[in-house]
Amino acid sequence: MAPSLSLPLLCLLALYTPVTTKKECGRPPLGDGMELEGLQRVYSPGDEVVLLCKRGYTPTSGSRTISCNASGDWTKSRLTCSTKSCSLPEALGHGDMEFVDIVYQSVINYTCHEGYTLQGASTIECLYDGQWSDPPPTCTPVTCGLPPIPKYGKMVYDRKLTGETIVFGFGGTYECFPPLVLIGSERGSCSTDGNWTEPPECKLVTCSAPTGINNGYMTNTDKREYGFKETVKYGCNVDYVLDGPVEVECLKTGDWSKEPVCRASCKVGIKRGRILYNGNKFWIGDFEPNRISHADVVSVYCMNKEKKCGYAVSTQCINGKLNIPECFEEPSAIPYQLKYGSLPSEIAQC
Ligand SMILES: *[C@@H]1O[C@H](CO)[C@@H](O)[C@H](O)[C@H]1NC(C)=O
Ligand SMILES: *[C@@H]1O[C@H](CO)[C@@H](O)[C@H](O)[C@H]1NC(C)=O
Ligand SMILES: *[C@@H]1O[C@H](CO)[C@@H](O)[C@H](O)[C@H]1NC(C)=O
Repeated sequence: MAPSLSLPLLCLLALYTPVTTKKECGRPPLGDGMELEGLQRVYSPGDEVVLLCKRGYTPTSGSRTISCNASGDWTKSRLTCSTKSCSLPEALGHGDMEFVDIVYQSVINYTCHEGYTLQGASTIECLYDGQWSDPPPTCTPVTCGLPPIPKYGKMVYDRKLTGETIVFGFGGTYECFPPLVLIGSERGSCSTDGNWTEPPECKLVTCSAPTGINNGYMTNTDKREYGFKETVKYGCNVDYVLDGPVEVECLKTGDWSKEPVCRASCKVGIKRGRILYNGNKFWIGDFEPNRISHADVVSVYCMNKEKKCGYAVSTQCINGKLNIPECFEEPSAIPYQLKYGSLPSEIAQC
């Protein structure tokens, strides 16, 4: 029994000994957001202090007075100070707000979407009294003045103009009085920077008389100025084919659209042999007239000497030039007359 009694006794002694030596209180303990008036370095038993909440903090329940007790400890206070809160601001139309909290000293940053201008403070702060430093801003749309109109032209608005202000995004289509031609962008609109897009110009467009083409002709050879969108047709002389558009047009730029070219036909340059043209075989002597058009394909026959068989090799007429494939061997006159049956075009095909 004796040991179990002695332990609590020892504890009591241990606690009691320092307490008796302590007769003053140090600085009072302060909770979050608390302060007190007239801070002293030491307090004597019986001293009382009143705790306060700092600016921006609201006191909640509990006695605010604490006192230094006989053993040099401060009595407890149940006072707590909570941070003041500002009201939750309304969402910003056509803009964004950025904030982390809405308590004392919190900040809200406001920005407007593209095409809107901020009216008011772009940053507001929650003050100690729970009020925002400024009223929330608004975002108002960017406006333009009346659109720039080209001389001899007009703009047809997309929709009726209501009110006196033109808000960004509003626009229309430019038109020029005939026969003037619109040069530039047909569309115009009020931009988000408050400026109108660049207006077009209304111009009289003429093209000088078109020039002829080599080995061809024009349907209209009048030496006059031509108007916008006027056309002239081209054709090619005999033995030439047209490569490109048949017709040229006077463009906005005052130039003609790209003209065609007349390409020369080709002569199949072999003296003896048979050719394959458009699916038919012809002896060259019977191929009359000896002409194939530009871009046409013709085949000549070559010999596979190992296998003793013949095969057709094609070649294409390119503007008057027709290359005869290298494998083609022109037979000399006598065998051509006597032994034409042994020509590569006549024997078994590979
Ligand atoms: C003083 O306060 C402390 C802590 O609250 C307490 O432990 C102690 O008993 C008190 N002393 C007196 C004499 O009331
Ligand atoms: C508000 O803007 C300031 C300055 O740009 C920036 O330092 C701050 O972090 C922003 N605050 C919030 C809550 O976004
Ligand atoms: C609007 O146009 C004017 C005149 O061209 C120019 O000086 C100004 O910088 C433009 N404004 C903006 C925001 O681009």
